[in-house]
Amino acid sequence: MERIDKLLSATGRWSRKEVKELVRQGRVLADGRAVQKPEEKADPETVCLTVDGGAVDCAPFVYVMLHKPEGLLSATEDKSQPTVLDLLPPELRRRGLFPVGRLDKDTTGLLLLTDDGALAHGLLSPKKHVDKVYRAEVDGRVDGEDVAALAAGMTLGDGTVCLPAGLEPLGDGSACLVTLREGKYHQVKRMLAARGKPVRSLHRLRMGPLVLDEGLEAGKWRFLTAPERERLKEGRGAL
Ligand code: URA
Repeated sequence: MERIDKLLSATGRWSRKEVKELVRQGRVLADGRAVQKPEEKADPETVCLTVDGGAVDCAPFVYVMLHKPEGLLSATEDKSQPTVLDLLPPELRRRGLFPVGRLDKDTTGLLLLTDDGALAHGLLSPKKHVDKVYRAEVDGRVDGEDVAALAAGMTLGDGTVCLPAGLEPLGDGSACLVTLREGKYHQVKRMLAARGKPVRSLHRLRMGPLVLDEGLEAGKWRFLTAPERERLKEGRGAL
C-alpha cells in the first residue's frame, strides 16, 4: 500500500502541495470514493484513481518522449551548460529521470527519459538489437558504395569496430536515413565522415518501437501513451 499523495505526485503531474489542495477540494477519487486525506493509502496495482473525473495512471515508472532541440546536453546535470532535464517541470526532475542514451549537443529529435533502469538497459544493449533511426544531411551525396560499406560493418580510423548499419539515401543523396543497433560516441557522424560525407545535421526519428511524435515541437515533451509503453517493454515493432 502507498500513500495517495505520493502516488499522484510521482506521476510528475502535481506537486505534493498541489495534491493536498486537490484532495481538500474533493477532486480526487479512489475507486469512486472521495479521498479524505492526502496520506490515505491505496494499492497502486489495483486502485482506480481519478482527478476531476480523469483516470490517473500511477504506474511505478515514468516514461517521457522529448523532442530534443539543438544546444542542450543529454545529461542529467552539468556545471556550466543546460541539459535536457531543464525542459522538464520540477516534479519530474525530482523523480530522477535520465535520458536513455545520448544525443550530441547539436543533434535533435527523439529522446526517451525514464526512471526505469532495467528498460533503459535493455534498449541500449547491442545484444537486444534495438534499431535507432537517424535522418542525416551530409556534404556530398551518399551512394551505393556507402550503403555497402555501412552494411558490411565499418572499422573507423581509430580502430573502432561498428556493427553492420543501414543506410538509405533520400532524394539526391544529400540526405539519408541511418539505422544503428548500437550507440558509439558520435557514431553516425564518424561513419559518414569516414565515407567522405560529413554530417551537416542529425535528427533521431525512431528508437525501437518508439517513433518521434510529429506533433511534438522541438523542446516539447509528453508522457508515453499506454500502447507505446507496452510496445517498448515487449520490444515489438513501431506503432
Ligand atoms: N550519432 C552521432 O554521431 N550523434 C548522435 O547524436 C547520435 C548518433
